[in-house]
Amino acid sequence: MTRPTMRYIAQAFTILASFSGLVESADEALWPLQSFKSSPIQAPFLNVTKMGQTEPGYLFFSPHDKLRETGHPVIYSDDGQLVWQGNPGNYSAVQPQMLNGEPVIAYWSGYSGAGFGFGAITILNSSYDEIHRVTLDCKKEGFVTVFDPLEVDSCIDIHESQLTDNGTILVTAVNVTQADLSAIGGPKDGWVQDALVYEIDLVTNDILFRWSTYENNHQVAITNTRVPLEGAGANKSDPYEYPHLNSVYKYGDSYLVSSRFMCSLFFIDSSGLVKWHLHGRTGGDFQLGLGTSFCYQHDARFISQSEERVTISLHNNDNTDFTGRTSLTTGLIIDVELQGSRQVTLKSRMWDAAEPVFAVSQGSYQSLGNGHSLQNHGATPKIEEYDEAGAVVMRARFGYDNTMQTYRTYRFPWVGRPSTKPSVVACSESDGKTVVYVSWNGASDVQAWKVRSKTAGEKTAVHNGFETRIVVEGLANSDSIVVEAVGGVGDGVASDSITIEQC
Ligand SMILES: *[C@@H]1O[C@H](CO)[C@@H](O)[C@H](O)[C@H]1NC(C)=O
Ligand SMILES: *[C@@H]1O[C@H](CO)[C@@H](O)[C@H](O)[C@H]1NC(C)=O
Ligand SMILES: *[C@@H]1O[C@H](CO)[C@@H](O)[C@H](O)[C@H]1NC(C)=O
Ligand SMILES: *[C@@H]1O[C@H](CO)[C@@H](O)[C@H](O)[C@H]1NC(C)=O
Ligand SMILES: *[C@@H]1O[C@H](CO)[C@@H](O)[C@H](O)[C@H]1NC(C)=O
Ligand SMILES: *[C@@H]1O[C@H](CO)[C@@H](O)[C@H](O)[C@H]1NC(C)=O
Repeated sequence: MTRPTMRYIAQAFTILASFSGLVESADEALWPLQSFKSSPIQAPFLNVTKMGQTEPGYLFFSPHDKLRETGHPVIYSDDGQLVWQGNPGNYSAVQPQMLNGEPVIAYWSGYSGAGFGFGAITILNSSYDEIHRVTLDCKKEGFVTVFDPLEVDSCIDIHESQLTDNGTILVTAVNVTQADLSAIGGPKDGWVQDALVYEIDLVTNDILFRWSTYENNHQVAITNTRVPLEGAGANKSDPYEYPHLNSVYKYGDSYLVSSRFMCSLFFIDSSGLVKWHLHGRTGGDFQLGLGTSFCYQHDARFISQSEERVTISLHNNDNTDFTGRTSLTTGLIIDVELQGSRQVTLKSRMWDAAEPVFAVSQGSYQSLGNGHSLQNHGATPKIEEYDEAGAVVMRARFGYDNTMQTYRTYRFPWVGRPSTKPSVVACSESDGKTVVYVSWNGASDVQAWKVRSKTAGEKTAVHNGFETRIVVEGLANSDSIVVEAVGGVGDGVASDSITIEQC
């Protein structure tokens, strides 16, 4: 068997390569972008189909275009209009949340290899200004990576950026360490890609909680994993990645942790003790009822919690590179009896029967109001909203399968207050009309635009998507214009004075 040393890098590209037979030509599979006159921003066309009423809020995600090799954090409205796009880079776990009573956006950015990464979490306020940068010191914590020497200072992984209500954030990290792989047929002095959970103080970057999967092998044994060893783990440059943690949430003083490759959810107390282990294939500490099996899941959270029972939602993409990729991706809600019978019961399972998804990586599940839920399918660039009866009320696609992706997508109410000014270009056409284009990256509630000039007075036009086109008559070529926002939190904020060009 021939396997490249940089197994992880290889993994990133296998998805694309093995699907290339299905798309006519990778080069021809470029998804259409929206582009604008008043801004250099280019953003994927978001193809929204609505079959019913959606919950309020905008869509926050991070489309990454594998063919064009670009990615951004973005906000779109339900009608497919871009509201905000951040700077290009490697992004993950874009999560709108509340912090001290204010809406914020948290996201990971940094160096991302195949399925994991090394970087920092940035937290933006509603003006898109950085208010926190959360880091995990690679050197101080002794991180060892397959990418050594890695030129990054912070070793937070791509998978989580969840705030608590206590001024802290939950993140994951990965670390190459020595491990006994004999229980799964590997070397006794082998190597693994361990996965860790951290709770970090937002202001001081102090580590308040650290939990390593491998150090807790006595509680959650490596034998729980479903990833084939295939000769990995023989040396430090080819560690066996067996836990792959991908979500963490805090409930009280305990942590709900999802391990994708172990098909497991762990509930861990503040001392690191695993209080219970739900395995999606074997049950672990529980008895799996009909239809409750899951594997390779994402974004596990409690919908409700009591002493006796928890109700858990997750994105169940029971599919990977190394499985047949034939399992249907579903949203899954299960009841787990914590006492007595320890029974797991199916509450609901949702998928889009008209356009079923078989996602091979990434994804998210968000419970919304009124029993609605939002699912995002990762490597299958689709977002769906379901109503309380499990019917699809919205379908939104932003790319062709396996060429565009976003790790997660969340819906959240938002009022964007950019600290910039509206951006304007204007040009005069041969018939004497002047065409004005105005946009304001991040502004969410402008109602109209007012064009002011000396020679043509004022003209007001209704705001129309990311960029509004306004035709003004009677402007002298030598005149300059200013465009002012009307309505919303940016009411009265004006652009710089713009001179008119020839079209
Ligand atoms: C957008 O969605 C509609 C409805 O499903 C479909 O007919 C159309 O082809 C889609 N456009 C693209 C670019 O995929
Ligand atoms: C993004 O990650 C790639 C590795 O996949 C790295 O080469 C590149 O420098 C990263 N970009 C940034 C802005 O960190
Ligand atoms: C966002 O943060 C910047 C920098 O701290 C601050 O100037 C601005 O007022 C903040 N905006 C909001 C809406 O809080
Ligand atoms: C990473 O693993 C190395 C051994 O390879 C160990 O010395 C170091 O403490 C580990 N770091 C973390 C954060 O677990
Ligand atoms: C590590 O192991 C892999 C496969 O087991 C092998 O291909 C590679 O050459 C080894 N690398 C080193 C540095 O020994
Ligand atoms: C919140 O922070 C306070 C002060 O650091 C600490 O005493 C308390 O245990 C924390 N609460 C939780 C739920 O972590």
